[in-house]
Amino acid sequence: MAHPFDALTADAMRAGGSWKWSTAGTDARGRGLIGAFVAEMDFPPAPAVAEAVRASADANHFGYLADAWVADMAAACAAFWSDRFGWAPDPERIRPVPDVLTALTTTIRHFTPPGSPVLVPTPGYMPFLRVPAMLDRELVRVPLARDGWTLDPDALDAAFAASGAGLLVLVNPHNPTGRVLGEAELAAVTAVVERHGARVFADEIHAPLTFDGRVHRPYAASSPVAAAHAVTATSASKAWNLPGLKCGQVILGNDADAAWWDDVGYLAEHSTATPGVLATTAAYAHGREWLDDVLAYLDGNRTLLAGADLPGLDVTVPEGTYLAWLDATALGLDEPPSDFFRREAGVVMTDGAACGRPGGMRLNLAMAGPVLADALERIAAALP
Ligand SMILES: Cc1ncc(COP(=O)(O)O)c(C=O)c1O
Repeated sequence: MAHPFDALTADAMRAGGSWKWSTAGTDARGRGLIGAFVAEMDFPPAPAVAEAVRASADANHFGYLADAWVADMAAACAAFWSDRFGWAPDPERIRPVPDVLTALTTTIRHFTPPGSPVLVPTPGYMPFLRVPAMLDRELVRVPLARDGWTLDPDALDAAFAASGAGLLVLVNPHNPTGRVLGEAELAAVTAVVERHGARVFADEIHAPLTFDGRVHRPYAASSPVAAAHAVTATSASKAWNLPGLKCGQVILGNDADAAWWDDVGYLAEHSTATPGVLATTAAYAHGREWLDDVLAYLDGNRTLLAGADLPGLDVTVPEGTYLAWLDATALGLDEPPSDFFRREAGVVMTDGAACGRPGGMRLNLAMAGPVLADALERIAAALP
């Protein structure tokens, strides 16, 4: 049965003016470009979210954040995490930030000394490879094993030992490989981090987006040891598609970190958008049906990808997130693969080099099924 999202044509998306669809030009055959790079979805917002934004305008709620709105948001977030992931963080320990990047920069600034190394598994989310240097920290990459995109505890241990890093950036569900980590993997990471007296920035922004019955396991919930060294960051911005509304959450895992945040969190909290907080509360509290429908739709898109005949491309169908990794190394292209497929297929993807893994590409699946089918056909036809 047709889904309303099926009607979101490429022409309509281009006319919409989003960043994802505003890459200028055409491909080598004169076709319009299909936007499949930045991590946002083409789907219209959840009714509860749209209503919350409209209501905030009607009620003149464009002023500074009131404590009561923060408390409502924290309670809605805690209830959602409890219901979906079996972890009920204390709402008092859920604090607003404009976005996960701000949570990361605050954590790096305050938990690592200038000049010190920060570990980032690669391929990784592009800004995470750039932010450490911007903050005068050294980026240390820990390559993920292609076999299942696992974070090898021995490699992690060696990276900590060689670099003396005090912080690991752990993204789960993982962008860009779509891996969803299980309890055993989280426990292995915890043991290594603890052995080196380090900390974890647990980026769980994609937490609600898992498939095939997988359930997100919050790192800080995995053990008291993990909770004692983790700063968790999340947001409704991926699952409900609200990145422009500028509201994320930091979840403090222990009393000491909550006291730390009381000291340092003011600046980050101050940049959080009031309508974003109100919309986030609505998403967590009243956007669950919409989310489940989106998950089912995205699952259909995963099936389209899994069924695509793309010889020469090593395709990772994501376990979570709506991002898929296509490794084009075997094609032997003499240019970045995203350049090739943008020109020859008219599909705009993120190049693996930006993720720390040249030869690969990140494809965003969160578009209308017919548009994705077209994108996959174009990619298939362009294969050398
Ligand atoms: C893993 C991950 N972390 C962080 C972000 C950025 O989130 P924010 O806009 O809240 O900074 C993204 C966006 O795609 C992401 O995929």
